[in-house]
Amino acid sequence: MSEIDWSNLSFSYMKADYNVRCYYRDGKWGELEIHSSEMISMHMAATCLHYGQEAFEGLKAFEGKDGKVRVFRMEENAQRMINSANGLLMAPVPEELFCNAVQKAIELNKRFVPPYESGASLYIRPLLIGTGAKVGVSPADEYLFIIFVTPVGPYFKAGFKPTNMMITRLHDRAAPLGTGNIKAGGNYGASLVAGEEAHHKGYSAVLYLDSREKKFIDECGPANFFGIKNNTYITPESKSILPSVTNKSLFQLAQDMGLKAERRPIPLEELETFEEAGACGTAAVISPIGKIDDIDTGKSYIFSKDGNPGKNCEMLYKKLRAIQYGDEPDPYGWVT
Ligand code: COI
Repeated sequence: MSEIDWSNLSFSYMKADYNVRCYYRDGKWGELEIHSSEMISMHMAATCLHYGQEAFEGLKAFEGKDGKVRVFRMEENAQRMINSANGLLMAPVPEELFCNAVQKAIELNKRFVPPYESGASLYIRPLLIGTGAKVGVSPADEYLFIIFVTPVGPYFKAGFKPTNMMITRLHDRAAPLGTGNIKAGGNYGASLVAGEEAHHKGYSAVLYLDSREKKFIDECGPANFFGIKNNTYITPESKSILPSVTNKSLFQLAQDMGLKAERRPIPLEELETFEEAGACGTAAVISPIGKIDDIDTGKSYIFSKDGNPGKNCEMLYKKLRAIQYGDEPDPYGWVT
């Protein structure tokens, strides 16, 4: 393996040694298989290609100062993938199989877990696809579950520095009662045009408004949104938001660190009142938001005037990272 510049990794794909796979056939999951090829071969009428029977997950493993590798809240990701499978009528991957596969994929690729000092991590990408052939719109009889891993740095280029977002009413990410709350690939496909528009205009992502009325804050690009004011961590409640494991963890940490925490609809006007704001997710961790420009109305909401994250964002970020890297004890049982 040529030298990896661990401290300068971006969020991109790098080939590791192995991936693990499991096939669902004749109504049951088979044995976990180990593969070194990055390629998969499938029927051209596979439902994942035509009818969007595809869901994925994202979780991370971290090397600690003690040399141990810790994976963060994998049972939560397993449960979320079960919800995604149910939402797309796919065969759910049992939690035990999911967790065994995650651990296997890490063990087999241990040399790709970035060293402690680099601040990088191993991104783990589980994938569930309908592989059975169908032409009528109906669920497949066969599925493939794959996990591959890749070492990554920060998702948003700025890392833990404020980044800017834009609001537009010209695109929706997910329908009010659609698939926004599960990790279906289609949600991300539907966000590409808006995301590209944001990048061209110099923003990191789109802060979506609810697609029914455009009155409430919804998802923030590929991450969840939170705002902080009056010692309260506030994150939107919406049927079209993906329940982020990171957000759930921050919600708990905020409370245990002396903040209040609320999950409720956030009206657009309330943006004005937040002292801090951020995007959070496995890939993004916490990305503090510097400002949000509403490009339809010309209004700007500014959260960082000096280019630095706010104190609560920083406190939450440090606490979460300390637990993930094993620098601090994990009273929650979040790491394996
Ligand atoms: C994650 O945070 O793990 C995600 O899935 C976001 C993105 C990379 C799609």
